[in-house]
Parts: sequence; C-alpha cells; structure tokens
Amino acid sequence: GPVEGLIVAVDGPGGSGKSTVARELARRLGLRYLDTGAMYRAVTQLALERRIDIEDPQAVAELAERAVLSVGTDPDEPSIAVDGVGVDAEIRTRAVTNAVSAIAAVPAVRARLVAQQRQVIAATRPGGIVVEGRDIGSVVAPDAQIKVFLTASTEVRALRRSRQLGEKGVDDVARTLAELDRRDALDSSRAADPLAVPEGAIVLDSTALSVPEVVDEVLRRCGQSSNVT
Ligand code: DC
Repeated sequence: GPVEGLIVAVDGPGGSGKSTVARELARRLGLRYLDTGAMYRAVTQLALERRIDIEDPQAVAELAERAVLSVGTDPDEPSIAVDGVGVDAEIRTRAVTNAVSAIAAVPAVRARLVAQQRQVIAATRPGGIVVEGRDIGSVVAPDAQIKVFLTASTEVRALRRSRQLGEKGVDDVARTLAELDRRDALDSSRAADPLAVPEGAIVLDSTALSVPEVVDEVLRRCGQSSNVT
C-alpha cells in the first residue's frame, strides 16, 4: 500500500507529458491525483464566460475569491466543477488555453488556488497524492517526498498539444507552437511563482521517451533514492 502521506510533485511546461505521466504514476502507486492547471483553467473559463477583462487583476481576483471550485481526485476520472457546474470539456478550449497565463499571473488568484490545493492534498492523508503543475515542488508542496520536473523539446510538445486538439495540418502545428512559446515565456517570466525546476527534483527529458518509459524511469529513480534514505 502507499506510504503514509506520500506527496509526488510533477512540474513542467505544457505538452511535456505531465498529465499523462502524473495520472499513470498515481495509478501505479495507488494515490489520488490533482491537476492544478485545471483549477487555473476553470477560473479562466469563468472569467471568459462572465466577460470579465482578463487584464484587470482586481476584477480577476474578485472572481477567483467568489468562485467555488470542486475537484475530483480519482486518477481514472479527474473532474472539476465551478459553482457546482462541471467544466471538464470547457477548460480545454483554445480560448481558455490562450487566456490562462494572464489569470495565473495574478498573485491573489494564486494565493487562493494554492490554499485550496493544500486543502485537497491534506484531505488525502494518510494516503497520498500526485500533484501536477508549475509550482508544486517549489511552492504548493515543498515537502513533497518525490519531485519530478518533466521537459521536452518545444517541437515535440507542440506536436503532442496539436494532436490532443485533434489537429492535422502543418499550419495548425506551427500555430500551436507559436502559442506554446508565448505561454512558456509568460509562465516562466511572471513575478509570482514562475515555472522553475525545484531543488531536489528528478529532471527528465521526455522528447524521445514514451509515457511508460518516463513512468518506469521515475519509479526506478524513486526506488533508488528511497534505498538511500
Ligand atoms: O498545465 P496546464 O496547461 O493545464 O496549465 C494551464 C496554465 O495554468 C499554464 O499556462 C500555467 C498555469 N499554471 C500555473 O501557473 N501554476 C500551476 N500550478 C498550474 C498551472
């Protein structure tokens, strides 16, 4: 069975394979699963729906203050609802993807969501949880026993994203690559908790690796480090 209160942090840029790897790790280790990006996406979806100016930090902060997010942490069926309404499909649209960095840059939004993420994590004790995002190993759960930072070349990440979106053409991939570049730059350069490799993280480049290969490699290295400690 899972170690008591095990927290696995999986951080990395979009398209690095984070979600697939994090879910598979949760299944293999018998843990719950939390996608923190989905929470930033849910607030963004709500802002777009309510026609709130996403460049107005105060308006965005007020919205995030009032929104009631509920997340389901089953790795086989993760779910997210805002004010009781499921938004699992809505948060994956291109409109949300392109607006989410502006929302995620607002410190008050981050403070609110990080507090909720810590509550979700605490509620899984004495079991454990795999948490994926950009600032999990550094800010949300610096005490995580296992920290993974996944990367991949921009081209491969764009291809994966494009495929997820069901696109076929070369132009679509080029556009997705440009949007990914822009989002990477925003997520890495923002003042509040930018994307960064946390101390003690296992850094893995998934460019040439399949999902099972990445998962096996993480489990192999965890086994090694737990033998040492
Ligand atoms: O992983 P994703 O593409 O679903 O994340 C959506 C956005 O949310 C991403 O552009 C950055 C932001 N994000 C964040 O700032 N902090 C997190 N812990 C997770 C996501």
